[in-house]
Amino acid sequence: MLRGEGIDVRAVVRPGTKKDLRMAAIQGLGCTVAYADVGDVGALERAFDGCAAVVHLVAIIRERVGATFDLVNRRGAAEVAAAARVSGVKRIVHLSALGAGPEAPRYLQSKWAGEEAIRHSGVPTVIVRPSFVIGPGGGAAAQFAAVVRLGPWYPLYLLGAPERPLAVLAVLTPIVPVLGSGKYRSMPLDVRDLLAVVGQALRRDDVLGEVYELGGPDALAYDRVLDEVMAALGVRRWKVHMPMSLARALVREFRYLPNPPITQDEFEALLVDNVCDNTKTVRAFGLNLRPFRDAVGYALQNAVTADGSGRS
Ligand SMILES: NC(=O)c1ccc[n+]([C@@H]2O[C@H](COP(=O)([O-])OP(=O)(O)OC[C@H]3O[C@@H](n4cnc5c(N)ncnc54)[C@H](OP(=O)(O)O)[C@@H]3O)[C@@H](O)[C@H]2O)c1
Repeated sequence: MLRGEGIDVRAVVRPGTKKDLRMAAIQGLGCTVAYADVGDVGALERAFDGCAAVVHLVAIIRERVGATFDLVNRRGAAEVAAAARVSGVKRIVHLSALGAGPEAPRYLQSKWAGEEAIRHSGVPTVIVRPSFVIGPGGGAAAQFAAVVRLGPWYPLYLLGAPERPLAVLAVLTPIVPVLGSGKYRSMPLDVRDLLAVVGQALRRDDVLGEVYELGGPDALAYDRVLDEVMAALGVRRWKVHMPMSLARALVREFRYLPNPPITQDEFEALLVDNVCDNTKTVRAFGLNLRPFRDAVGYALQNAVTADGSGRS
């Protein structure tokens, strides 16, 4: 979006990032590339040198050895803020997450702590708290599509089993397991609406110092999200609701898998309604929010594979 508007963009990627198709795509847009880990304040300072603004997009939703929520989401944000200050950056647009707060589930607590670091950086900031984002190129839309297509076989896909035979099995067992009631709500947000906010947040001085919560126009139960994804994909599956006790036990056992379908932290976050009042943000940015059906249709029609190599 920024390059489309003729704005110079320096994409900061991790050292060691492979020169793959994603990198080629970034460079193809005319972005320059700088290398920095959010744990390396010196590299961040070099990366930010000469930049008017920083859009901070780095976070993890799953912890790994050496990459905890605290290290990446809180301390990483603090290092970005410190480097931005030293480099003379004039503003930071920080992507937080809807539901971030000091008492929230762990991931959202760390996003809150990251916000705090940015807020107290001394650099003017705009903080945006999006609900989960629907767009091409992976993320939530691709994940929902795989859950619906593969149904009960989805965990095997995550463990590396080939997709095609699993998809055949899924046709023979046309169900989608749902953890608990499926009534927990969220407000999935079209990435194009989020981009409109980020674009304005980079330019307008009247939004500095503010926090903007933003979800899509509708609060949808998880069951409804699945129905819409099925409609977009043109597939029919029966939703099978697992009793909460079974769901909890299953999620606990998932911790032994190398790439679980859901972690304990994600499960806890899922069960809390992730909704907001959009009024302030819609007014401030003059938004006409796209409904989930449009968002998911756009995301799936323009889906790219994880390596950015084309339509999936
Ligand atoms: N997607 C959503 O639905 C959603 C919803 C609410 C809020 N948000 C927030 O929006 C922001 C962007 O989300 P996203 O979905 O685009 O996330 P994403 O796809 O997971 O991207 C995160 C990026 O951070 C990079 N990264 C991870 N650890 C790093 C480190 N130590 N140093 C430097 N870079 C590192 C990753 O690099 P590699 O590619 O090398 O791993 C990746 O490019 C995040 O702050 C997230 O919390 C997202």
